This record gives sequence, structure tokens and C-alpha cells, in this order.
Amino acid sequence: MTQDASATAAKKLFIKTYGCQMNVYDSQRMAEAMASEGYELTEDQSQADMVLLNTCHIREKAAEKLYSDLGRLKPLKAERPDLKIGVAGCVAQAEGEEIVRRMPLVDLVVGPQTYHRLPAMLRGEAPAILTEFPPEDKFDHLPERRATRRAPAAFLTVQEGCDKFCAFCVVPYTRGAEVSRPVDRILREARDLVARGVREITLLGQNVNGWHGEGEGGEWGFGRLIRALAEIDGLDRIRYTTSHPNDMADDLIEAHRDIPQLMPYLHLPVQSGSDRILKAMNRKHTADQYLRLIDRIKTARPDILLTSDFIVGFPGETDQDHADTLRLIEQVGFGTAFSFKYSPRPGTPAYDRPEVDGAVADARLQELQALLNRQQKAAQQSMLGRTLGVLFEKPGREPGQMVGKSDYLHSVFVEAPEAQIGDLVQVRIVESAPNSLRGELVG
Ligand code: SAH
Ligand code: SF4
Ligand code: F3S
Repeated sequence: MTQDASATAAKKLFIKTYGCQMNVYDSQRMAEAMASEGYELTEDQSQADMVLLNTCHIREKAAEKLYSDLGRLKPLKAERPDLKIGVAGCVAQAEGEEIVRRMPLVDLVVGPQTYHRLPAMLRGEAPAILTEFPPEDKFDHLPERRATRRAPAAFLTVQEGCDKFCAFCVVPYTRGAEVSRPVDRILREARDLVARGVREITLLGQNVNGWHGEGEGGEWGFGRLIRALAEIDGLDRIRYTTSHPNDMADDLIEAHRDIPQLMPYLHLPVQSGSDRILKAMNRKHTADQYLRLIDRIKTARPDILLTSDFIVGFPGETDQDHADTLRLIEQVGFGTAFSFKYSPRPGTPAYDRPEVDGAVADARLQELQALLNRQQKAAQQSMLGRTLGVLFEKPGREPGQMVGKSDYLHSVFVEAPEAQIGDLVQVRIVESAPNSLRGELVG
């Protein structure tokens, strides 16, 4: 079967990924599923036999990117009518056949829970538009993760979907209900990745720290899962994203204290520092509860670097609410953060609420980002003179240079002509640039 596939020239698959890391992971799994159909990845869209756009619906701009990209594909499709165009991901889930109505050049539409059926869809053995939430688990129907060469740092989805229904967010609708993958599958996939040269795994989920499962001795929480992963020989670094503050259980905080492989970095979105807005967002915690949680985490792991997400201009946000958010940022001190102007999303509870004036929201966003930028700079400065682990992921911009991630997830450029991708080295940080650090090999 493999021989047949190599005897005929391999077909080329071009994938463009928008949105979050879970989409990056899904794109890899789709590429692996398509490999069994004789497709190999290409970086050159003009050479592709199939173009797959793995989309994001989180903000209006993210969703609109799909349509501008599809518009740009029209001449290629006109030139080569047998080119297949597929739309996957969260816009596929949210808009379904509307996509084909608006853009008839699209051949396939597949949601995030049905992409294991892509090969069948291509063969015409499954409908061309598949966006249901099927009873079977897609991971049971995808090929084992052997098809592609491995980089030293990999993603592993352990949890999907969301039951939290924040008033602004499409994820519960596009990804469906919260589901945790079983312990044995996760451990098997992690071991498989490590056997292929992976040294760092980032566990993924929309509410990754809400993961739970049946393990040895009974019900496991996410902290217990991390302990089990830390026992895998050769797995040097563990990270996870994205977490909800209400799911930061004690066993997870203790894992940050006890497990050296668990990196001192935590992305913990808070969205706002105003209790009134947090309530309107349906976040189910107050600013003070978040601050007390941060205190407990810092007690467990004093050097932890915290990052977050903020939404500015949520309906009803006043100057005072905005000031409360700035104050929370001052109190925590973030390593970096993503901040977005609120974007009303069809089908979410906040969609019809009166919007904050656009110019006011823009000004607040600028002010908030200026503060976060100062904190990012300060966090990077605090690394100067320190010796940190860096896992080399690729060559740097200059000859003889490598670039990798520090324990705190900063990109670090290092002069290391002898080094290989996948080396985990000790580096002294000597310089801070706008979005990266520079370091020197130690020893
Ligand atoms: N599960 C994660 C977030 C997933 S979405 C969590 O609970 O934090 C990633 C980020 O996009 C969110 O944290 C939020 O800051 C932002 N976001 C989500 N919906 C948005 C909207 N309608 N407008 C602007 N930003 C939004
Ligand atoms: Fe969206 Fe809230 Fe769920 Fe995060 S917790 S995915 S922001 S609904
Ligand atoms: Fe976007 Fe879907 Fe991820 S909406 S952020 S791709 S879960």
C-alpha cells in the first residue's frame, strides 16, 4: 500500500492554519490522515492538489480572513478545476453550508470533531459537508502519530470543548461540550512523540486544566496527569494551555511546586479586572479571587511567569471598569498578554448588548497594551544575567546561530555553531530585544 503510494507521484496538500494552538495540532493530525491517502505537505500553494484552510471563528476579523483567502484562490481554481479546496475548523463548524453558498469553489467543509472522515469525504464516501458532533471519538479513527518528522517541541491535545459559556465566546458552540481524552491514549501518544525525538510537550485544551480521567487508583485530575507524564524518560519539559482560573485545582498548583519538568510558566486568562464586567462576561470569579489564586500559585512556584488574555470594550464597560483592569495588571505583573477589542459574535449571549463606542474602546486598548508592553519588557530585563535552559528548535537568523525557547517561553538566540536542533542547553541571557532574548552558551 505504501509502495503503491510512492510509485505514483504523491499528491500535494497545502494547509493554512488560523487561530489557536489546538488548530495547529488539528492541522498536523489532518496532514497525517491525508498521508494515508497519498498526500504529502507542500509549502507552495500554487503546487497543491488540495488546499485546506483550518479556520478560527473567535473574532469577526479572524472569520473574515477565510473569505478573503478563498477569494484569492479563485484564479488558481479557474486554472486547475480539479484542485480540491477544503474548509476545516471553527468557521466550518459555525457556518457549515453557508460557506459553500457564499463561495461555491469550496469542495469540502469539515468541523473540528469530524476531520477523521476527511479521507472518506475526499473519496466521495462521506458527505462533502460534515459538521455534526459524532458519537465516536475522532482520535480513535485517526492514524497513529508516525507519519511526519518530529520537531523537539510538540503539541498534544488532551481536552476539547468548553462548558463555561463566557458571554462573548464562540468556543462552546464551535468545539462542543467538554471532553477529556482517556489517560492511556494520552500517555501512549506522549511516549510515541518522545520515541520520535520530542523533548517538550505542550498539553492543549480550551480548558486544559479542567481535564479529568480514570487512572490508576481512581479519578485523576490534571495535576495527576502531569505527574504521570513527568515519569516518561526523555520528556524534559511539560507545558499546558489554556487554563481557566476556576479549574486551578490544588493538585495542579502542587505540581508546579514539585515537578521540575513542569515549566515555570502559566497562561491564565482573566479577561477583565472589574467584578461587574467579569459577572457580565459569565466568568464566575471575581478579580480578588483571581489575585488570591495568583498568590497561591506564586507561593508554590515563586519564579513562575504569568501571562493572560484581556478583552477591552466589553458591553457596559465604563472608565472605572477599565481602571480596575489596569490595576489588576499592575498588581499581578504579567510576562506578556494577548489583548483584544471585544468583537460581537453571532449566537453568543453578549451579541445583542449595546456596544462601547469604538474610539473609546480603541483608546482603552492602547493604554492597556502600553502597560502590558512595559511589563513584558521588565520581565525580559529580569532574565538578564540568569542562566536558563534553552531547547533549540531551529537555526537563527545568522549563520552559526540557533534559536529556542527558555524555561519561561522566551525565544532565545544563541551563537552555537556546533549545536543541533533538539539540544537542551544552559544559556546565560545577555541581551533583551523587543520580542526575544540573546544568550551565550554556558560551559
Ligand atoms: N479557553 C480560553 C480562551 C479561548 S479564546 C479561555 O478560557 O481563556 C482566546 C481568547 O480570545 C480569549 O481568552 C479572549 O480573550 C479572546 N476572545 C474570545 N472571544 C472574543 C470576542 N468575542 N471578542 C474579543 N476577544 C475574544
Ligand atoms: Fe471561551 Fe470562556 Fe470557554 Fe474560554 S472558558 S473557551 S473564553 S467560553
Ligand atoms: Fe479559534 Fe476555534 Fe481555536 S474559534 S481560537 S480556532 S477553538
